[in-house]
Amino acid sequence: MLQSFSKMLPSVIVALMLVSLTCGENPAIQVVLTNKGLQYGKHVGAGWIQEKLELVTLPDISGKVGMGILGSIDYTLTGIRITKCDFPEPSVEFNPDPVGFKTSTSGLSVAISGDWRTHYIAIHDGGTFNMALFNVDVASVVELGKDADGHMSVTSVSCSASIGNVDVQFSGGASWIFQPFVKHFKGRIRGEIESEICPAVEKFIVNLEYSLQATHVSFDVNQDLSLDVPLTDVPVIEASSLNLGLKGEFYSIKTHQEPPFEAQPFTMSEHAGYMLSVGLSEFTVNSAAFGYFSAGLLQTVINDSMIPPTSPVHLNTSQMGPFIPQLPKMFPGLLMSLQLYAQEVPAVSFQPGAVKMGFQAAVKALAIQPNATQTPLFKLLVDLEFSGKFWIDEGKVKGSLAMDNLTLSLASTEVGTFKTDALENLAKIGMKTMVLSKVNLQMSEGIYLPRMRHAKLTNSVLTVEEGFIAFSSDTEVRIDEGFN
Ligand SMILES: *[C@@H]1O[C@H](CO)[C@@H](O)[C@H](O)[C@H]1NC(C)=O
Ligand SMILES: *[C@@H]1O[C@H](CO)[C@@H](O)[C@H](O)[C@H]1NC(C)=O
Ligand SMILES: *[C@@H]1O[C@H](CO)[C@@H](O)[C@H](O)[C@H]1NC(C)=O
Ligand SMILES: *[C@@H]1O[C@H](CO)[C@@H](O)[C@H](O)[C@H]1NC(C)=O
Repeated sequence: MLQSFSKMLPSVIVALMLVSLTCGENPAIQVVLTNKGLQYGKHVGAGWIQEKLELVTLPDISGKVGMGILGSIDYTLTGIRITKCDFPEPSVEFNPDPVGFKTSTSGLSVAISGDWRTHYIAIHDGGTFNMALFNVDVASVVELGKDADGHMSVTSVSCSASIGNVDVQFSGGASWIFQPFVKHFKGRIRGEIESEICPAVEKFIVNLEYSLQATHVSFDVNQDLSLDVPLTDVPVIEASSLNLGLKGEFYSIKTHQEPPFEAQPFTMSEHAGYMLSVGLSEFTVNSAAFGYFSAGLLQTVINDSMIPPTSPVHLNTSQMGPFIPQLPKMFPGLLMSLQLYAQEVPAVSFQPGAVKMGFQAAVKALAIQPNATQTPLFKLLVDLEFSGKFWIDEGKVKGSLAMDNLTLSLASTEVGTFKTDALENLAKIGMKTMVLSKVNLQMSEGIYLPRMRHAKLTNSVLTVEEGFIAFSSDTEVRIDEGFN
C-alpha cells in the first residue's frame, strides 16, 4: 500500500504541476461577445469605413510601362482620391483555429480620380484620370492572443486581395497618345493597387496591436483601490462566441496584499440573444472588501453629533439605564463614542436571485470625560447578515438591501457584565432607521450603467447566479462627425 503510494506520488505531483501550469488562475470576470454582437459591430464598422473611404487619399502609384520598340514610359499617378465607393457589407466570422476573426469583402467597386504624369524620353506630359475598380475582393484572417502582460494581441495571419477589372480614362495632355496603351497600363495598375491592399490591411492591424499594447490592464478605481484586468488566458472561441477571461481583482493601493482566497471557476450560460455578456465573480467584490480591510479602512467612529437630534436615545451615559443599568450610576451625564471596526473581511456570496453579505464587526464604547479623556466602557461583537437584490430598470442598476440578522455579544467590559438583548434591539432599530433606509433610498434611485459618448447599452438584464453576476446587453452605436 505504502509502496504503491510512493510510486504514485511523483506522477500525482507532476499532474498537479501541469494542472497549475495550464490552468493558471481562474478569471473572475468573463466577457462574451456573441455572434449577434459581432455582426452588429461589423455593420457599424462597415458604415464607418464606407464614410471614411471617401476621405482617403491614396499613395502615389508610379512605374514604367514598356511599349515594345518605342521603349518605356515612366508614369506617376498622384492625388488619387476615392470619388465613389460601393462597399458591400463584408462578412465577418469567428475563426476557431487560429482563434480570431475571418473577414471577407467581395464585389467592392471604387471610382477614383487623380492626376497623371508621364515622362517619355525627354517629354513630360500630364493630365487627369478617372479610374474604376470592379469586383475588388479582400479576405483577411486575424489571430487574437495574449501577450506576457495580459494585453490582448492581434496579428494578421493571412490576407489576400484581388481586383476583377480596371477601367481607366485619361484626359488632358497628349492623352490621346496614351489612351491606346491603356490596355498595357491596366494590368500594371491593377497589380500595383492589388499589391497595396494587403500591406494597408496589415498596417491597420499593426496599429490596432499598438493601441492594444497601450491599453491599461490595471487602473486606479479611487484613491484606495486599483483593479487588475489582464487576460488570464488566450481568448477562446466557442459555440460561435468569443470568450475573454480577465483577472478581475481589486487591490488596496496602500498594501497591494493578496487576499487569502482565490477566484473560483464559473460557467456563463449561453446568452446568444444578447450582443455582449459580462460575468462578474463574487471574488471580484470580495477582493475589493479585502483591499479596504487590509488597508485598515473598514472602521469608523460614531459620536453623538451623528445621531439625529430627534432620536429618542442619545450616546449619553445617563440615557443607557434601560440597556446597561449600572452605567448611569458609574459615569453619569457623559457623552459616549463608539469605535466600530471590521473583525474579519466582509464576505459577499452570489446565490441564485440574491446577494448575501456577512459582516463581523467589533464596537468599542467609550465615555468622553469633561477633560476629553476617553474612558473604555465595554466591547461588543456584532454579527451582521444582509441580503440584497439587484436589477436593471430604465438604464440604471437598482437594488434593495435587507438585514437578515444582527446579533450582539459582550466581548469584554470595564463596567461589569450586562445582558445584550435590549441593546441588540436598539441596534436593529438604529440599523433599519438610520442605515438601511438611506442605503435603500439610494439603491432605489439607482446608478446609471456605464455610458460612452457614442455607445449606449440597451435591453440590459442582470441576474445573480451561483457565484457570479451575469450582465447581458445589446448596444447601440451612434456615429456622428465627432467619431474618429
Ligand atoms: C464627532 O465626530 C466628528 C467627526 O469625526 C467631529 O467633527 C465632532 O467634533 C465629534 N463630536 C463630538 C461631540 O465629539
Ligand atoms: C446627558 O443626558 C442627561 C440626561 O438626559 C442630560 O442631563 C445631560 O445634559 C446630557 N449630557 C450631555 C453632555 O448632553
Ligand atoms: C481626566 O479626567 C478623568 C476623570 O475625572 C481622570 O481620571 C483623568 O486622570 C483625567 N485626565 C487628565 C489627562 O487630566
Ligand atoms: C442569527 O444569528 C445567530 C448567531 O449567529 C443565529 O443563532 C441565529 O439562528 C440567526 N438567526 C437567523 C434568523 O438567521
